Amino acid sequence: MVPTADQTRTPLLDAVLNYAESEVTRFHMPGHKGGRAVNDRLLQALGPKTWAMDATGVLGLDDLHQPGGVIQEAQELAAAAFGADHTFFLVNGTSAGVQAMILSACAPGDKIIIGRNLHKSAQAGLVLSGAQPVYIQPEVDPELGIGLGLAPASVADAIRRHPDAAAVLVVSPTYHGIASDLAAIAGLTHKAGMLLLVDEAHGAHFRFHSALPRPGALEAGADMAAHGIHKVLGGLTQASMLHVKGGRVDLARVRRVLQALQSTSASYLLLASLDAARRDAALQGERLLSGPLEWARLLRRGVAGLAPLRTFGRELVGRPGCAGLDELKVNVDVTGLGLTGQEAEVLLRRRYGIQAEMSDLAGVLFMLGPGSGRKDVEVLLGALEDLVQTTPGTDLRPGARAVLPPPPPPPLPPSEITPREAFFRPSEAVPLDEAEDRIAAELVTCYPPGIPLIGPGERVTAQVLEQMRLVAEGRLRVSGPADGSLATLRVLKEGARHGRASGP
Ligand SMILES: Cc1ncc(COP(=O)(O)O)c(C=O)c1O
Repeated sequence: MVPTADQTRTPLLDAVLNYAESEVTRFHMPGHKGGRAVNDRLLQALGPKTWAMDATGVLGLDDLHQPGGVIQEAQELAAAAFGADHTFFLVNGTSAGVQAMILSACAPGDKIIIGRNLHKSAQAGLVLSGAQPVYIQPEVDPELGIGLGLAPASVADAIRRHPDAAAVLVVSPTYHGIASDLAAIAGLTHKAGMLLLVDEAHGAHFRFHSALPRPGALEAGADMAAHGIHKVLGGLTQASMLHVKGGRVDLARVRRVLQALQSTSASYLLLASLDAARRDAALQGERLLSGPLEWARLLRRGVAGLAPLRTFGRELVGRPGCAGLDELKVNVDVTGLGLTGQEAEVLLRRRYGIQAEMSDLAGVLFMLGPGSGRKDVEVLLGALEDLVQTTPGTDLRPGARAVLPPPPPPPLPPSEITPREAFFRPSEAVPLDEAEDRIAAELVTCYPPGIPLIGPGERVTAQVLEQMRLVAEGRLRVSGPADGSLATLRVLKEGARHGRASGP
């Protein structure tokens, strides 16, 4: 869809630049007064103009918590560009957007149907809201071992079992760029009278190029969607947006929620970057993304010729849980080299000066974006070729896998109390062997496939413990627990229903 508003305009960026260039004598925050009192190295590194732009909500710069001037204009332009009815600028990351969606849709005790591949910001949203999660397992590709999206059939089943839920929250696309069938999920959700919330943190760019997964969340009918403008588009880190569409969401409540979640000292550098990134995406998105998409295909083709490395691409589209693929995310499986993904990530950085986005047991994920060039991909392919030729123990037999494939995720553990109740109960760390049947106090996510094994308020099962032991064996990477080695797990103290929460 072609945005209707004049997308050449950048009212917020203009206002911030005008203020930075003006002769105003500053008697306001921040204390560096436009860069006069800052560390010399940092002043030089960022440049004087950056410091002059680091202003606060003075005359002419509007107020993020009560916009009525340039921030409102910029948000309206963004709404038109992204196909929303209302857009809210976020300076506390997409995390704030995910939490705001949950708090806008759920009161304490409300059920929310939610993909188990939720980001930890959604877990925090559950604690803040007091909502009761009803989890759906995303699909997992058994051969690749990576988590896919949610199959509409799983959503339909959860809706049938919990027709009283207030909302459905979906992460789409996943970190690996896999998009769920949001149009089908929106149809199911709205038929049941629930709100559809989409954590589209990694999909803000979808609307701006015809080769990217469509429909995106808002086009598919989502009531709210959170976008990380810093993840692919040109926003500064943390710069994000929350979009609302369709008239089912109480906008006054969203505003109240955002006032509670966001800083009262919003960074004008972040805000200006949102205005600028929206302009460029709206006007030049197709051009900015065409090259990188081509380089990503070049990378896939190159990796396909570098046995035993493996990657996946559009052939995944159409499988349950994969309605579309963002080809800018290229995952390279290195297990055929006898290396884990983490080992390959470190080698690439130390030996070749290449930094990937992330790695897990089997793969290394490379993210391309508007700033990527053909040369970057050529450098990477050269390094991968060298890695294949020089890695000791390289096993070139087809299908050889020195690193064992990850086990399938265990069944969902039973939920006993809400994440919020668990958060405020006293907890203790116990050796893993003593954790069975206790109620977990913390979120533990293993990679692959990046789906939490256990969350606060859930009973620890034998199958969950079995998978946790694979962390100690080095077969899985873990995120979330206070004890990263998983020698111990934090569980709720038995018998203590109230009291001060202890530990992290
Ligand atoms: C799926 C998903 N949602 C939300 C977030 C949070 O975004 P941010 O880091 O901008 O707060 C992330 C971060 O990577 C994410 O991967």
